[in-house]
Amino acid sequence: MADPTSPETPVVRTVADLRKTVKAWHEQGLRVGLVPTMGALHHGHLSLVDLIRERVDRVVVSIFVNPKQFGPNEDFDRYPRQEAADCEKLSSIGTDLLYAPGVEEIYPAGFATTVSVKGLTEGLCGAARPGHFDGVTTVVSKLLLQCLADVAIFGEKDYQQYAVLKHMARDLDIPTEVIGAPIMRDPDGLATSSRNVYLSEDERQKALTLPRTLTGIVKALEAGRQDIRPLLDKGREDLLKGGFDSVDYLELRDAETLETVETLTRPARVLAAGYMGKTRLIDNMAVTPPSAG
Ligand code: PAJ
Repeated sequence: MADPTSPETPVVRTVADLRKTVKAWHEQGLRVGLVPTMGALHHGHLSLVDLIRERVDRVVVSIFVNPKQFGPNEDFDRYPRQEAADCEKLSSIGTDLLYAPGVEEIYPAGFATTVSVKGLTEGLCGAARPGHFDGVTTVVSKLLLQCLADVAIFGEKDYQQYAVLKHMARDLDIPTEVIGAPIMRDPDGLATSSRNVYLSEDERQKALTLPRTLTGIVKALEAGRQDIRPLLDKGREDLLKGGFDSVDYLELRDAETLETVETLTRPARVLAAGYMGKTRLIDNMAVTPPSAG
């Protein structure tokens, strides 16, 4: 819960200062959680802080707009940056530390390493945004190793990202447990996103086609419809008719392996991405197979 009387969240900007604080907490026997973000914080981000706090004694939020995960024609330059407002929000919910490194702290001169996960990164956003996940896995492996928190949390809003990062931490024996958090939505149903500020009022109305289309597909599948391909084709048409300028993908994938689902027998996820004007929106929902028999 927000408490305006909470003390201001301290800010550190170097790996050395971050490690010093986390080491001191660990020496006191406290468990530490990390919430990696790119800032422009909204209630989706803040829900991650609240959730991880149930598992740990101290919460670190990182803010770093990571140049390596944006493509050459993407929105790196115009991505919203508002550290003072973010810091106020973090203070009001009692965040223990903000780690806000500069680019040179994360990628010093001569930086030459890329962390890359095969398989899980190949379809969906990975296909639509070449190089994006290498940027994400490179920065998040660094953030996890810099902080050495006990737990790190990622939102299911970016479902493929969450699956990739969980796999990466396991493959690299990073000693931080990776957990997921449910999607937070605005009251109209649109998944909360830092990029929603780019939408005009008209675009925002049209963007609601995305959660509505996904909800329709979930309901149909859970009611037992089995013609997955035609259902997804119709969904894609609905998104375009509803005002999306293009649809990167609308797919049904296994909730764990992200493999394409032809027959719904295990928990799945319906995932979509598309452009509303210049704004790329993504969303996804859980699909539970109708019980057999
Ligand atoms: P960013 O888009 O700032 O998101 C930070 C975290 O907040 C991610 O784990 C994301 O999934 C989660 N999040 C965003 N919107 C959410 C919502 N509506 N409900 C629940 N969680 C939500 O994702 C990134 O930054 C970056 O790729 C990062 C992991 C920080 C690496 O640079």
